[in-house]
Amino acid sequence: MSTFLEVSNLKKHFKTPKGLLHAVDGVNFKIDEGKTLGVVGESGCGKSTLGRLIVHLHEITDGKIFFEGRDITNPPPKEMKILRKKMQMIFQDPYSSIDPRMTVFEIIGEPLKILNLYSNKEDYNKQIDQIMDIVGLAKRVRGAYPHELDGGRRQRIGIARALVLNPQFIVCDEPVSALDVSIQAQILNLMQDLQRDRNLTYMFITHDLSVVKHISDNIAVMYLGLIVEFCETKALFKAPAHPYTRALLSAIPIPSVHERRKRIILKGEISSPINPAECCRFAGRCIYAKERCQQEAPQLREVTPGHFCACHFAEEI
Ligand SMILES: Nc1ncnc2c1ncn2[C@@H]1O[C@H](COP(=O)(O)OP(=O)(O)O)[C@@H](O)[C@H]1O
Ligand code: SF4
Ligand SMILES: [Mg+2]
Repeated sequence: MSTFLEVSNLKKHFKTPKGLLHAVDGVNFKIDEGKTLGVVGESGCGKSTLGRLIVHLHEITDGKIFFEGRDITNPPPKEMKILRKKMQMIFQDPYSSIDPRMTVFEIIGEPLKILNLYSNKEDYNKQIDQIMDIVGLAKRVRGAYPHELDGGRRQRIGIARALVLNPQFIVCDEPVSALDVSIQAQILNLMQDLQRDRNLTYMFITHDLSVVKHISDNIAVMYLGLIVEFCETKALFKAPAHPYTRALLSAIPIPSVHERRKRIILKGEISSPINPAECCRFAGRCIYAKERCQQEAPQLREVTPGHFCACHFAEEI
């Protein structure tokens, strides 16, 4: 069986007045069908750029993308149209790019119109009504404007807009980050139900590790354009290998009063993604940094079966 989605040495460099900004700098991973890859890391590490590259919202600088075993790095226009249906993206705030004068019904129906995916008015209405029902939006909000609704409902519209095209793969870019914790749980449950019912494959982007704990099968931790750790979710929470992952994990509060975890505060400056030097990009903030870390970039390597880490000293720390 071929891998559902695979990216190989994927890169996105932006030209800036100060030099080339290495937003995504050689990323490799695979996602199996029906599974979720969580992608975590601080703001600016390249998560959104990576997601946008995969769904072809950015031009690729280098590397390859394979979908259902086929190379889709530079698809011809006909295949691109099919991919626009199969691959969707859900955003933290989908309304920044949507006309505020559009109603809920119009917003959800717009992708059908753009891709001309309905046979007549009746079919168009039916498709939208069905998807509104599936994501838990009441019929009475059909004519409402997003700004009249609460955050949870607004995100349900974003999900409906992606789902109306019946995709197979969805990049979820911080879909619950702007929501209250109780609403977050509702949306995450909805997304898990939809995944099960429709055999969806997710790439779930978040800066908050606790959000992806229950929804991801695997997790990729990103730091300045690179994946620094990749493994099954359970393994990551049980035995994080990279010093950066350990710091991220230490920031999650533990619900039990009997347990304590020492919070690791990261000191030092985040190095610049512009023309990065040949070294460990985390060295300036790492308490274990040695001379070698300043001279040689660590490769992502398998430190225990299925557990990959980019640190020269992963086995010793
Ligand atoms: N269109 C763009 N032009 C120039 N730089 C960009 C652009 N988009 C993102 N970047 C830069 O790329 C890096 C990664 O950004 P982004 O992917 O948005 O990170 P994240 O989603 O992890 O917060 C950041 O340094 C950001 O400033
Ligand atoms: S390679 Fe060195 S600086 Fe980088 S994470 Fe490992 S110990 Fe820290
Ligand atoms: Mg982002």
